[in-house]
Amino acid sequence: MTKPLIIAIDGPSGAGKGTVAREVAARLSYRYVDTGAMYRAVAWRAQQLGVPLDDEARVAGVASTAQVAMDAGRITIDGVDVTRAIRTPDVDRAAALVARLPRVREVLVAHQRGMGKEGGVVMEGRDIGTVVFPRADVKIYLDAAPEERARRRASDAAHAVSDQGAAVADVAVALEARDASDRSRTVSPLAAARDALIIDTTQLSIGEVVEKVMTVIREKH
Ligand code: DC
Repeated sequence: MTKPLIIAIDGPSGAGKGTVAREVAARLSYRYVDTGAMYRAVAWRAQQLGVPLDDEARVAGVASTAQVAMDAGRITIDGVDVTRAIRTPDVDRAAALVARLPRVREVLVAHQRGMGKEGGVVMEGRDIGTVVFPRADVKIYLDAAPEERARRRASDAAHAVSDQGAAVADVAVALEARDASDRSRTVSPLAAARDALIIDTTQLSIGEVVEKVMTVIREKH
């Protein structure tokens, strides 16, 4: 493989982005960046500091001053490992609120551009192919039927600690609310880029999705 690519993977929760992006990054020896974890970490830190989540200026202040580090599947903010703490239903809701604030997005998007500008990155989120890297080499948009996304999220090990025993129906309601928030916000709403390859993963195994993505990537080299 020649030049290091920028690979953007977007889509709603439970579409398989994380698992697929991690596997693709591992196969290419690229860096994997989970941008949702950044919104989650900022929301977690703002709550910890007692900053109201609708106070845009102060939450943006948290986003720009906090030290966020992502490495080997762990995420820390201001030195605190929040890898597990950010996967609770409370942070799910808080992150969706924070993600609606334009000034917070501005700060995190700048940070994400910095992390990906040299290429060699698989970046996963909602607006990577549309806003963060509109000229990404490969743009993938993963989607799946809502019931399937809720089922996956309910059995997701990372969320299992707090969602223990969560009924799929309850997860479906919460997930639908967050998706509606992500899709309807005025800044960078969740949407497929015009030039993204849309893959419906409802009936596909992870291996099959990874293969489809790898095929597109090989064509770019
Ligand atoms: O992917 P996730 O569930 O960890 O994302 C957490 C929240 O952040 C979710 O409400 C979507 C939002 N988000 C975003 O607006 N833009 C991104 N690039 C990534 C996540």
